[in-house]
Amino acid sequence: MKITMIGTGYVGLVSGACFADFGHDIVCVDKDIAKIAAIEAGRMPIYEPGLDQLVGTNAAAGRLSFTTDLAAGVKGADAIFIAVGTPSRRGDGHADLSYVYAAAREIVEALDGPAVIVTKSTVPVGTGDEVERIARELRPDLDIQVVSNPEFLREGAAIGDFKRPDRVVVGTTGSERAIAIMSQIYRPLNLNQAPLMFTGRRTAELIKYAANAFLATKITFINEMADLCEAVGAEVQDVSRGIGLDNRIGSKFLHAGPGYGGSCFPKDTLALVKTGQDFDAPVRIVETVVQVNDLRKRAMGRKIVKALGGDARGKTVALLGLTFKPNTDDMRDAPSLAIVQALEDAGAKVVAYDPEGMEIAAPMMSNVTMVNSAYEAAAGADALVLVTEWDAFRALDLKRLATSMNAPTLVDLRNIYPVAETQAAGFTLSRVGSLA
Ligand code: UDX
Repeated sequence: MKITMIGTGYVGLVSGACFADFGHDIVCVDKDIAKIAAIEAGRMPIYEPGLDQLVGTNAAAGRLSFTTDLAAGVKGADAIFIAVGTPSRRGDGHADLSYVYAAAREIVEALDGPAVIVTKSTVPVGTGDEVERIARELRPDLDIQVVSNPEFLREGAAIGDFKRPDRVVVGTTGSERAIAIMSQIYRPLNLNQAPLMFTGRRTAELIKYAANAFLATKITFINEMADLCEAVGAEVQDVSRGIGLDNRIGSKFLHAGPGYGGSCFPKDTLALVKTGQDFDAPVRIVETVVQVNDLRKRAMGRKIVKALGGDARGKTVALLGLTFKPNTDDMRDAPSLAIVQALEDAGAKVVAYDPEGMEIAAPMMSNVTMVNSAYEAAAGADALVLVTEWDAFRALDLKRLATSMNAPTLVDLRNIYPVAETQAAGFTLSRVGSLA
């Protein structure tokens, strides 16, 4: 199959490289000349484990190429995937679809034969209809099918998720040609393990939002249980295990923490709320999830102040991890942003270390002193806070950390440190949803 991928952001680049690895012939298109040049030179625009190698091997094998020339990239393609950004529109939280529609226009104008246009970007219900309308208006002479094929990959595990998905969702308006081409594209997956699910186009668009909103709800539910655990004297990790062992509930996404962040959950939950309101079918549970999660991030700052004895003025707080989760340099909606703000508002001085995120984080938190290791961060601090559970933080020498601090207080916002060991190292420990 000859496939063109429009947009070399997270989804576009990972999908393009993985499709090429399946043996398809892929052209990735991006307007950003510097970005394309960097990728061609082997420098990835994002930090994603294994991506540079995957891109390198497939480019060398001649299956993966890059261009800024959309019209040339589109010619002769069996399918053209739109994987451009859909940021939250400033002010109202709706998804900004201007990049999607602009890409659709350019694609359609460049087409020289029948084609399947696939939206892979996360787009609100009805976007496929509008892309189809654009196609009909600009090229009534061509058979252009518009398909929705949402992506469910997680940052940091994107390649594995793409190659071994739980399911692939394809939404069409019933065109046999579109269904045949999409089946052909995904044939290299072991489809017994990863069902290829065909559905209506609007349904596919909604599935993506429903999946993310449901997962965000699960996290938010357990986070509120964590608060309740602290209030009544219970252990949230045991509550998670106790409910997660029920197959109807499932054990994943029940890890209590400082609130979800990232490029998907915050944006997609908000967009779903807006869609619900627009169609007069409000999704009140998701509205509440959005509010609860927003408030939680700042509340984590107050939790740290409490661990400091109620007064943070003039004290130094050391943060371990700034990115919204490990194995990424992504700072979008990271809990650390609200935590830093709350701590600075309370008069604390903040020092931080993150294995990959400091370059992007530094301009977003200009008063924070970035240092080069967890040990350097802890030295002389009044509280050490584990914000993001990078593997490199799991095996730290707790004794060495504790003895280097002004006051050995540890706030473990991800519950990764064993209680007894941490206390034996001399720390006063504070966790999420725990008696400790
Ligand atoms: C998510 C979805 O998992 C993915 O399917 C979708 O396509 C995009 O959004 P991602 O944002 O990369 O992926 O990260 P994920 O690993 O899902 O974590 C999201 C957030 O939830 C992080 O802030 C993480 O720390 C938090 N989280 C996750 C928890 O607080 N507790 C959990 O149990 C799981």
